Amino acid sequence: MALIRTQVGIIGAGPAGLTLAHLLHLQGIESFVLERHTRDYVETRVRAGVLEQGTVDILCGSGVGQRLQREGLQHKGVELRFDGRGHRIDFQDLVEKSITVYAQQEVVKDLIAARIAYNAPILFEAEAIRIQDFEAQPRIRYQHQGTTHEIACDFIAGCDGFHGICRPAFPADQLSTHERHYPFAWLGILARVAPASHELIYTYHEHGFSLLSMRSPEISRLYLQCAPDEDINNWSDDRIWDELRTRMATRDGFVLQDGPILQKGITPMRSFVAEPMRFDKLILLGDAAHIVPPTGAKGLNLAVADVRVLTRCLVGIYKENKRNALEQYSARCLRRVWLAQRFSGWMTSMLHRFPNEDSFAHQLHLAELDYVTSSRAASTTLAENYVGLPFDTPGLF
Ligand code: FAD
Ligand code: PHB
Repeated sequence: MALIRTQVGIIGAGPAGLTLAHLLHLQGIESFVLERHTRDYVETRVRAGVLEQGTVDILCGSGVGQRLQREGLQHKGVELRFDGRGHRIDFQDLVEKSITVYAQQEVVKDLIAARIAYNAPILFEAEAIRIQDFEAQPRIRYQHQGTTHEIACDFIAGCDGFHGICRPAFPADQLSTHERHYPFAWLGILARVAPASHELIYTYHEHGFSLLSMRSPEISRLYLQCAPDEDINNWSDDRIWDELRTRMATRDGFVLQDGPILQKGITPMRSFVAEPMRFDKLILLGDAAHIVPPTGAKGLNLAVADVRVLTRCLVGIYKENKRNALEQYSARCLRRVWLAQRFSGWMTSMLHRFPNEDSFAHQLHLAELDYVTSSRAASTTLAENYVGLPFDTPGLF
């Protein structure tokens, strides 16, 4: 069995694994990235779209932001729509920040291109099948092209998403999990049609939530709340557009043009947190440790925030001789994770219909939305969370 030696063995080439590998490279720390899917698969998987200002700053500040700066769409506000009327939350006015719409798979492409350009190791179709000895000399066993190989490393970075092998490898008595399931899912489409608005529109309607987002001036991304066990085959293109039009209709005649649907799928909604995020030399980042419902657009951004914390810890260990630098990793990440859970959960319950809601519950949704869009204090709360809590608030990572 071939044995490879590196400093940090990274499992997973999603946003967490690739950003970590990149930031470590810039610090002169070696890593080896394993990804079980093909390069094409990870570069075309349709997922997140909203980048917080802090995420954009990290990507641009580390030299992988040229295309993001050219093609990303900077948004200075967002619309909340209910009762047939739209209300803009003005980020620029309220918190002097903005967000950028740039697809996750484009971030992934930029990071992979950078890694290949500087000739650092990344293997696709290489599945980690076992991790061991993370209390002493960590090893990762993986399969590539029909052969089994092993990596010996100082640390294992579990960037392998919610269904990966790293979290289950924690000793059972060393891990607590906190979980919430929601009684609905999102049906998402990508359509070749100019977005009907320059900014995102989150809509609450008696039929349920809907969201208008975009990927470019020609491509719209739209979502509809649906049942958690919904069969996508029950949703013809016409039915999807009709339902979107019903939910997004305004009293002043908002027009939603349809167009060819390029991709559609159903995303379940869940909240999940694993604590702690580190066991000795095995460290979890991103979706491997936590999942937020997508209503707050926080998942990818949290993955990048974890990477930021871990990079600082590893720089402490390798370059500043701070042997205990990892001690605070989990607590620092989890503080931000719980704040994001709070925000994402609040957005989700404000904007979705729960089964068997009565007229009282409906009126409460409307009152909550009325308050959030008419009180400057409440709008500011939404804005400061949506654009991303600062990394440098005293004590807050
Ligand atoms: P992943 O992207 O899941 O990457 C994990 C990688 O590990 C995968 O490539 C996987 O193949 C690989 N892997 C797993 N097991 C192994 C193994 N054994 N060996 C080798 N490789 C392995 N977030 C936002 O911030 N904003 C949004 O607007 C937003 N919208 C979303 C919309 C949808 C429809 C969905 C589904 C998610 C959305 N998210 C959003 C969440 C965001 O996509 C995730 O939080 C993000 O992908 C997490 O990145 P990650 O690198 O932690 O995990
Ligand atoms: C997206 O563009 O995919 C998107 C935007 C905002 C969200 C979730 C997803 O809250």
